[in-house]
Amino acid sequence: MNIVLIGFMGSGKTSTGRLLAKQLGYRFIDTDNLIEQQNGMTVANIFARKGEEFFRQQETALLKQLNGADNSVIATGGGIVLTGENRLLLRELGEVVYLQTAAAEIIKRLDGDTTRPLLSAADKYEEITRMLEIRQPLYQAAANCITGTFTGHPEKSAERILQLLKIGVK
Ligand code: S3P
Repeated sequence: MNIVLIGFMGSGKTSTGRLLAKQLGYRFIDTDNLIEQQNGMTVANIFARKGEEFFRQQETALLKQLNGADNSVIATGGGIVLTGENRLLLRELGEVVYLQTAAAEIIKRLDGDTTRPLLSAADKYEEITRMLEIRQPLYQAAANCITGTFTGHPEKSAERILQLLKIGVK
C-alpha cells in the first residue's frame, strides 16, 4: 500500500509525508527530490535550463518508475496533476490524498521562498489564486480523499490522513 500526497506548493506534503512514513514504518519518497537527484540539478535550475515541459516529462517518467513501489508515502510536486496521464498514474500508485489549503494560507507559508520557479510574479496573491483556480478541480479529480491542513502542525495533518484512510498506528 502506498499513500500519495498531492496539493499546491506549501500545503505541507513533504513535512506531513515524512512524518506519516515514520509513523507507519514506510519509505518516504519525494518526487521533486528524486528528480533533482536523477538530473543532478535543483528544480529551480531544471526549470531555468531545460524548461517546465522537460520537468513535467521527468515527473511522468518518475511516476512510471515508481509503479510497483509498496509501503511508501509519496509526496509530489504541486503541478504533478496537470496531465491526465499523471492523474491516472497517481491513482495506480495508491491512496491519493489531497492536502487542501486556501490561497491566503499558502501565501503566508511561501513568503520569502526563492526555491519555487513558478512563484516569481510580483503579485503572488493573484498568481496563486489563478493557479489554484486551474488546479483545484485537477487535485479533486485525482484524489481518493481530501483533507484540510493544519498550519505548522504536520502531526495533525498526518493524524487526520490516518483517520481518513482508516489506518491504525501501533
Ligand atoms: C511546482 C511545485 C513544486 C515543484 C516545482 C513546480 C508546481 O513542488 O515541483 O517547483 O508546479 O506547483 P512543491 O509543491 O513541493 O513545492
